[in-house]
Parts: sequence; structure tokens; C-alpha cells
Amino acid sequence: MPPSTTVPIDRLWPEPAGAVDDASLLETYAFPPDRSWLRMNFIASLDGAVTREDRSGGLGDAADRRVFDLLRRPAHAVLVGAGTVRAEGYGPMRLHAADEAWRAAHGLPDQPVFALVTRSLELDPDSTVFTDAPVRPVVYTVDAAPADRRKALARVADVVAVGETDVDPTRVRDDLSARGLQHIHAEGGPSVFGAFLAAGAVDELCLTLAPTLEGGDAGRIARSAGATPTAMALAAVLRSGDELLLRYTRATGS
Ligand SMILES: NC(=O)c1ccc[n+]([C@@H]2O[C@H](COP(=O)([O-])OP(=O)(O)OC[C@H]3O[C@@H](n4cnc5c(N)ncnc54)[C@H](OP(=O)(O)O)[C@@H]3O)[C@@H](O)[C@H]2O)c1
Repeated sequence: MPPSTTVPIDRLWPEPAGAVDDASLLETYAFPPDRSWLRMNFIASLDGAVTREDRSGGLGDAADRRVFDLLRRPAHAVLVGAGTVRAEGYGPMRLHAADEAWRAAHGLPDQPVFALVTRSLELDPDSTVFTDAPVRPVVYTVDAAPADRRKALARVADVVAVGETDVDPTRVRDDLSARGLQHIHAEGGPSVFGAFLAAGAVDELCLTLAPTLEGGDAGRIARSAGATPTAMALAAVLRSGDELLLRYTRATGS
């Protein structure tokens, strides 16, 4: 589906503006230049549910989709946990023609690298994630991952072990940086967010607050036994109808 640029989004803060265009949105969400940076992007209901019927899509609308698509545009790498890839039925990480044109004008390769996080390597090497990938994906896994799956995936992706039984988020970031991929846009899910949070490896959260109360037993956006509180600073507030799109960065010193 082509990106939806028509749905109006207003910026409430820091510089109020009505119906902002894509260029203005990209400025609002700009990566800091010349340094490694990892952004997490999530949507949650007002009562904190991360899914409706086990998927995030049920919570989103056209405004969230517009920002979701646009946030991929300037990324060097798009990082996603295997649980989300399986639950959301991800295909290849292929941006739209307008994204490619923007990237070319900004000195970026046509497409970002798709980076996946998995302990089990339960990812089908014959899925379009790999067979139709415009750029060879990178799969971050652990030493303990099954050797046969590792061999099968190594045909279609760079498979990199960065931990014994848990993927070490700091090593993921170091490996991506060593590949020249400093600006990492992560689309979750909650376990990956939790692991990266516990490792102090998250610089930013983009959170869409969907104007709905879900009740039920859906999880929250970050799940981790090991994380300690991380103070965040408000960086931007956008609004589309009753929905808020928030940008927070890690508070200085946290
Ligand atoms: N609302 C939103 O914005 C949003 C965003 C993303 C996802 N979601 C939802 O979240 C649900 C999925 O949740 P989830 O927590 O399972 O997703 P996830 O974090 O994407 O995936 C979890 C999987 O990632 C791998 N993993 C995570 N941390 C790891 C670590 N430290 N070391 C090694 N592997 C690690 C494991 O893969 P293996 O199992 O392969 O070993 C683990 O089972 C879905 O329903 C999805 O729709 C919602």
C-alpha cells in the first residue's frame, strides 16, 4: 500500500503547526546526525493494551500508519523481534518509491537493512522476508541456536550470534554500527523493547496513543524482568483527531 500522506496530522508541540507535511514530520522525528541512535515505535490504547486480537494493526488508524511508514524512511536499519515478524506476518522490508527518492536525495542507500532478533531461529528461510528482500537481512541470534536452522538461514541472511542464550542489545548496536548502520528504527515487539530497555540501549520512544479503552488481557509495550526505570523527556506531540502521537527521548543522565 502506498503511504497515506493525506490524513491530516497537527503538531501541538514544540512548534504548533496545522496539517504538517511529510518534510515537517521528518524534521520532527529526525535522527541526531553522526551518532548511533535507537528508536522504538509502538502504538498502545489509552489503557495500555499493545494489541487488539493479538495484532497492533487493530489499534492503528491512517494517521498512525502514515507516521509508521514515514519513520522507516530515514533509517539505516529497521529492527524487529521474531515474535512480531511472525504475529504481524511481515514480508520483505521494502520501502515505497517516494521513500527511495527521499533516501537518494539524502545520500542513503535505496532501502534500509532489515535486522531481526531471535533466540530460536524459528524463521522460514523460504518466506518473502528473505526471498524478496531488497537488501540481505541480518538475523541476530544466540550461540545456543539450533545449528541446522542457522545453516538454513545463512543462505539468505547474515546470521550473527551476539550472546550465549540471550541476544545482547549492546552487541546488536555495536554490530550494526560496524556495518555503518547507526540510525536504528525498531518496531518492537514488547520482548525486544524490554530486552533493549534493560540493557540501556533505547534512545527514543515514538508512541501513538490510540483513543480507545480495550480492557482485556493484552500485554503492554515493554516486557522485561530486568529493566529499571528510565526517565524520558518529551520531544514532540502530534495529534490527529482524538489520537496523540508522542515522541520521547531518553532524559539526559538516565
Ligand atoms: N502495538 C505495537 O506497536 C506492537 C509492536 C510490535 C509488536 N506488537 C505485538 O506484540 C506481540 C508480539 O510480542 P513479542 O514480545 O512476542 O514480540 P517480539 O519482541 O517481537 O518477539 C519476541 C521474540 O523475539 C526474540 N527475542 C526477544 N528478545 C530476545 C533476546 N533478548 N534474545 C533473543 N531473542 C529475543 C525471541 O524470538 P524467538 O521466539 O524466535 O526465539 C522472542 O520470542 C504481537 O501480538 C504483536 O502484534 C505490537
